Amino acid sequence: ASRENEALCRAAPVIPVLVIKDAATARPLAEALVKGGLPALEVTLRTPAALDVIREMAQVEGGIVGAGTLLTAEDVEKAKAAGARFGVSPGATDRILDACEANDLPLLPGVATPSEAMRLLERGYTVQKFFPAEANGGAPVLKAWSSPLPQIRFCPTGGVSTKNAPDYLSLPNVLCVGGSWVAPGDAVAKGDWGAIEALARDAAALSR
Ligand code: 3PG
Repeated sequence: ASRENEALCRAAPVIPVLVIKDAATARPLAEALVKGGLPALEVTLRTPAALDVIREMAQVEGGIVGAGTLLTAEDVEKAKAAGARFGVSPGATDRILDACEANDLPLLPGVATPSEAMRLLERGYTVQKFFPAEANGGAPVLKAWSSPLPQIRFCPTGGVSTKNAPDYLSLPNVLCVGGSWVAPGDAVAKGDWGAIEALARDAAALSR
């Protein structure tokens, strides 16, 4: 089950990457994103509130809430216990893969090179996160990987924006992209859920 991450990446063209400080914003934020058409939500474990945020968002109807920035086996266990239905990691270690497999947590594991992608493919991960996408060369890199590595599909994340998302989404080996632009910190802080729903709607309308 930890390798079953394809449906997640097909749910919408964009997976919002969320760094949330205040758990009180979790529910209305998730509701706005889901209403705008983005059901899969990645809550990064980078704030003290992150596990509470996952607990709150997991109750939002229509949402598929996951935990990002998984670095340790303990992160995996805590995320799963909080209600995360998938995990995302910046890279992939044996410990992280073992922990996700043991906890039945579908994982979107990060890669930056063909060797890393091949190693994950050997373990059965045919859908991977390309990270950090723009800094590693962006869409031309994934385009170049599509010939020698056609059986791997990607979710590029890191530096993806409305400007470059279409370049990634037009590639045959890209299922979706990850990005934080749909939930700007100032809009979250102000509780401007209408603005966030509008950003989500635009993101959900991107063609792939
Ligand atoms: C991150 O590390 O926060 C994710 O890759 C999202 O990055 P972004 O802010 O560039 O979308």
